[in-house]
Amino acid sequence: MSSGLQQLIDQYNASAPLDRASTIPASWYVNKDLYDLELKTVFSSTWQVAARVDQVSQPGQYVTTDIAGEPIVLVRGGDGVLRGFFNVCRHHAAAVMTEPEGKAAHLRCPYHGWTYSLEGELKGTPDFTGVCGFDRAQNGLVPVKLAEWEQWVFVKFDKSDALSLEGFLTKQLVEEIRQIKLTNLHWFERRHYSFDCNWKVFVDNYLDGGYHVPYLHKGLDSVLDYSNYMIENGERHCLQWSPMVTEGAETQTGAVRKGDRALYYWIYPNFMINLYDGAMDTNLVVPRGVDQTEVIFDFYFPDVTSAEARQRNAASVAVGQRIQDEDVAICKSVQRGLNSRAYNAGRLSVRREAGEHLFHRLLHADLSRTSQ
Ligand code: FES
Ligand SMILES: [Fe+2]
Repeated sequence: MSSGLQQLIDQYNASAPLDRASTIPASWYVNKDLYDLELKTVFSSTWQVAARVDQVSQPGQYVTTDIAGEPIVLVRGGDGVLRGFFNVCRHHAAAVMTEPEGKAAHLRCPYHGWTYSLEGELKGTPDFTGVCGFDRAQNGLVPVKLAEWEQWVFVKFDKSDALSLEGFLTKQLVEEIRQIKLTNLHWFERRHYSFDCNWKVFVDNYLDGGYHVPYLHKGLDSVLDYSNYMIENGERHCLQWSPMVTEGAETQTGAVRKGDRALYYWIYPNFMINLYDGAMDTNLVVPRGVDQTEVIFDFYFPDVTSAEARQRNAASVAVGQRIQDEDVAICKSVQRGLNSRAYNAGRLSVRREAGEHLFHRLLHADLSRTSQ
């Protein structure tokens, strides 16, 4: 770790209480070395969402993804066991599976045709007789640690840390989500959004306790009881929730954002679960560069088959799309401002921004731990 990078990390005072705290410094959002360090630390030492369980429920079903720049493939074996591997051929490192998802009888590399079983063992190596000291059994796909929770499959690279997925999520969060009974909700649609900002700008925006909602999201604001918006920090998650109102609701939003409460769960560092009555969406925030972020939205509903429900679901997704469109411009604006010589850090609202404070302290802890 360079001393310059260490200095950047030390610029943040993680021990300041919320009413004295500032945000992390602007340089953390624009510095390429810090970004690279985040991939090696924050994204490699936490459990990361890699797939939905419904994508890999049958033997042979697989999903490819990349996490912190590492190509990953998840595949359910013929024995019914779900496994994760680095999607890197043991011959000359090509990606073995190239589609985002699918079903296969075996995993065949498109480069020179090496073939692996669904369980990751190397089975076929064309034109490879006479190679000395080559042990096929030692050349299976390299496994990655994987665990399932609710509707999602998580992976984790860091082997040194014994924290299980449940330990990482914490008992409190696992129990809260269990009571919501997400199994009644089924996946409907996936959308990808691109943001011209650092991934942390998107997360900060999410965690501002509804602060920006009355200004940027008039439709959403019309269904939330803004003054009673609550923020509850856990160990590595934050629940923001708001009572909902029907009076004065904007028509489109009011039709699809219903219930007693809106629940917004953020799980450190980059996964969000948003719940309304009869609707859930998740956001996976994927860093694509120091100032580029992809956010993958999955939308879930109780009924995803009847024509009538599908129409209602599509209207709900359209409202979600509008809210994202409203956030795109502000995230870009913030990223530009973070690059300005006029800005270094900002203060936090005690009423609204406890979630951001937690996020910044967790980041600091991860970056500091690995820099020693
Ligand atoms: S790189 Fe996969 S077979 Fe050669
Ligand atoms: Fe927003």
